[in-house]
Amino acid sequence: MGGLSGEIPARAVAFGGPGGYHPLVRHAPALLRTDPPRAANAAFQRGPDPGKPPFMMTPAKQHSPKHPLKFDLTSTQAKVDPFPIFAAMRAEGEVIPVKLPLIGGIWVTTTHAATQAVMKDQGLFVLEGKNAGKSGVSGVPVRWMPRTLKILLNNMLAKDEPDHRRLRKLVDQAFSRASMSALRPRIETIAEGLLDDIERQAATGERIDLVDAYARRLPILVICELLGLPPEDHDMFSNWSGKLTTVTGLLSVFRALGPIKQLLAYLDRQIEAARATPRPGLISDLVRAEEDGDRLSHDELLAMVFVLLVAGYETTTNLIAGGVAALEANPDQRAWLMEDRADRMELAVEELCRFVSAVQGTKPRYVSRDVDFFGQTLKRGEIMMALPATANADPAVFEAPDRLDLSRFPNPHLAFSAGIHFCLGQQLARIETQVALDRLYGRFPALSVEQPGGLVYSDRIGMRSMLKLWVHTGREQVRQAA
Ligand code: HEM
Repeated sequence: MGGLSGEIPARAVAFGGPGGYHPLVRHAPALLRTDPPRAANAAFQRGPDPGKPPFMMTPAKQHSPKHPLKFDLTSTQAKVDPFPIFAAMRAEGEVIPVKLPLIGGIWVTTTHAATQAVMKDQGLFVLEGKNAGKSGVSGVPVRWMPRTLKILLNNMLAKDEPDHRRLRKLVDQAFSRASMSALRPRIETIAEGLLDDIERQAATGERIDLVDAYARRLPILVICELLGLPPEDHDMFSNWSGKLTTVTGLLSVFRALGPIKQLLAYLDRQIEAARATPRPGLISDLVRAEEDGDRLSHDELLAMVFVLLVAGYETTTNLIAGGVAALEANPDQRAWLMEDRADRMELAVEELCRFVSAVQGTKPRYVSRDVDFFGQTLKRGEIMMALPATANADPAVFEAPDRLDLSRFPNPHLAFSAGIHFCLGQQLARIETQVALDRLYGRFPALSVEQPGGLVYSDRIGMRSMLKLWVHTGREQVRQAA
């Protein structure tokens, strides 16, 4: 066991005890990686420096969620420029305890290897508390939860197998790469329509918030169409979900209850309407699955539509807006992309997925049994949150991770997670972002972010949410000069 010739176990029994994760094999999963079928990056392929031992032989300092370290993942710094804070966290260990609002002391991952290991081990890290001797779901106690919120726990992201698989199977095909590629022309038309509106707005001298006018509207319109919801209702969603994205503490959870209730009542009406008169879109397909028998209960149907609506746009909004901010801050990279948008956009968006890391943390999981994991002793029932954002900033896998390099290849980022809960909408998100950026810079080649204060982030847990992105389209100058 051990050695660098390919037999290093991702889980080593010798150090961690049965089922334990070896604290010294931080690179092993990447070295042995067979999926995704891309090799690790250039620096990584070079392998360890022959002059040095392959792994540091110092056992990690023992921590506990009862004594969390003082890293604030909701701080402005963690949203604006998270790389330094992630490096400081990594220096403390591959898994470390931090404190989160609402949840308290939990474990989080700081490296690519540890993050991927959490994502892929659905036996050790579970979402349903009952599978770890707890009564909550995804780190949240359910005993006092209002019924409205309990309904939402019937979604695939809150379920372990076998329920997760049953729910996901119902929508997997609809979100396949082929189905999403077929949507591209329609997404382009929607983007052009929004840019027409922005152009009119700019012509009147109105200040433009790109989050509201574009980055949020595009994914909402697309997901509404996919689900078969009337596009004229999208302003309502924006309004309700804007309130959901400010959930950062207990008080705001209660404040969000009203909008969640309204949204669920609205979706219930839409489901009933689709039942009475079938219409194009996923809601009608899911209603048929519900009516077919025991594949989907009514609460599950409601939770499914809710999760597709909510998961499907806030995340993509953050990637599009974060992408614009990243290009603004890296003019050389922007110039490289603009030289050949058609050919370079796909690669560029992969790097933006990594660099922006729109979803900083996955849903919290429970540890299902006592285990040694990357140098720490985890106890059954403790909470673990995998951080794709720290994985994507790990210098062991990405050369100069804090540098935006749009031509980076391969790019084994974990922005869309891995394992059974890997993002259902990843193809859709990629295509939406490629189209959004391509059309935006095609229409406004001189687009710039207002300085200073053009960017406003939310302090939301686990999300790199941008609330405002004030931009100049570049047409203002043309108008003033005329
Ligand atoms: C930039 C955009 C997006 C990012 C960064 C993103 C990221 C993620 C991540 C990290 C997860 C795993 C969460 C966990 O394990 O706790 C996830 C799951 C999920 N995502 Fe996305 N997502 C994006 C867009 C979308 C879109 C457009 C949809 C489509 C409707 C979507 C639907 C879902 C669903 C349903 C799950 C749960 C899958 C399951 O439990 O099997 N996401 N996403």
